[in-house]
Amino acid sequence: MCYAIPGRITGIKDNIVSVEYFGEQKKARNEFFDLKIGDYAYAQGGFIIQKISEREALPVLESWKELFFKLQEIDSQLIQKDPKTLYQRANNLRQKYHGNSCCTHGIIEFSNYCGMDCFYCGIRKSNSKLARYRMSLDEILEAARFAVHKLRFKALVLQSGEDPWYDEEKLVYLVKKIRQDSPSLIILSLGERDFGLYERLYKEGARSVLLRFETANLDLYAQLRPGRELKNRVELIGKLHKLGYLVMTGFLIGLPGEKEEDIKKNIELTNALAADMFSFGPFIPHPDTPLANTPLVHTETVLNTIANARVLNPKAQILVNTSFETLDRANALRSGLMAGANSLMINVTPRKYQRFYDIYPERAGVEEDVEMRIENIVKLLRSIGRAPTDLGL
Ligand code: 5AD
Repeated sequence: MCYAIPGRITGIKDNIVSVEYFGEQKKARNEFFDLKIGDYAYAQGGFIIQKISEREALPVLESWKELFFKLQEIDSQLIQKDPKTLYQRANNLRQKYHGNSCCTHGIIEFSNYCGMDCFYCGIRKSNSKLARYRMSLDEILEAARFAVHKLRFKALVLQSGEDPWYDEEKLVYLVKKIRQDSPSLIILSLGERDFGLYERLYKEGARSVLLRFETANLDLYAQLRPGRELKNRVELIGKLHKLGYLVMTGFLIGLPGEKEEDIKKNIELTNALAADMFSFGPFIPHPDTPLANTPLVHTETVLNTIANARVLNPKAQILVNTSFETLDRANALRSGLMAGANSLMINVTPRKYQRFYDIYPERAGVEEDVEMRIENIVKLLRSIGRAPTDLGL
């Protein structure tokens, strides 16, 4: 459930509420607000994240009303009645299970310090060429405020390298303050930190975790992630899911020596981890890493992965990630969304830091004006009948 159009509460049973959007009923978990039937609220990823007054809700609903149905119609027109290709089949499943809603999350990359030395990653600790930055807590809060109040995002990813400088006290403060000042679904992407820390942040109101297992291939994992074991990562992801976090996980496509069978296993592991959102993307070699000379994967391999993931799990959210947009600047978003994907992320890191979060070179969107970028993405989404539901209007 990912509509960020305000919904009207039509039913309440314990902490599960029914929310109505232009006649469509969805369900969401309400853990934080005092809601009664007839109230208006925003939901994200299946959680109520903000209660709003009728006075605020009605004009937004009014501005969406006509567009909401028009977009659905455009989407339906692009659906093949008799799907022949894998992409068409995947697109039909996407529409059947998710309608035309496209979750658009904002991502704040707040530190490029990393204690890990992953062979594929440009911010690995041995990369001494990279200038490092840490955003102060105030800067992060300001970036969150801008994303939520100015750009109207309803879901925020807080991402960094594995950087213990942000200890429990700092992270608790951040989650608390963001919940107070910038109501949104808070998605933590902090790497393999202690389960106890994640437990504490869940208590403070964080409700989602983005943590990829990177590869299900044991040999590759051991080679490329020195000092870490796949087993521990997978275990942590499982425990986070059990605790109640919405889990976003996935893998890299095209690591050296990877076979088609590996991609299949990666999709299967993502699914076995009960991922609410699949997050995977092409590996893009970084010149200052040991994998600098790995050939790029083909666009079709990425599209096939999206479509196969959709066929395996019609209900999951599937992301077109930024590395795919980097691999195929002109077409990735559109073609990914037409091959089964239904979600994307937009970089809302303050511009002066963006280029230092150099996990791979020449990332799409870096240092573009974020408002222009949103405008262009919304235009593209509208052209294929998708409702960019986190951005509001
Ligand atoms: N190309 C693409 N994605 C990468 N990541 C790290 N390095 C690269 C690269 N060279 C991904 C990892 C990590 C996420 C934050 O970035 O999958 O989980």
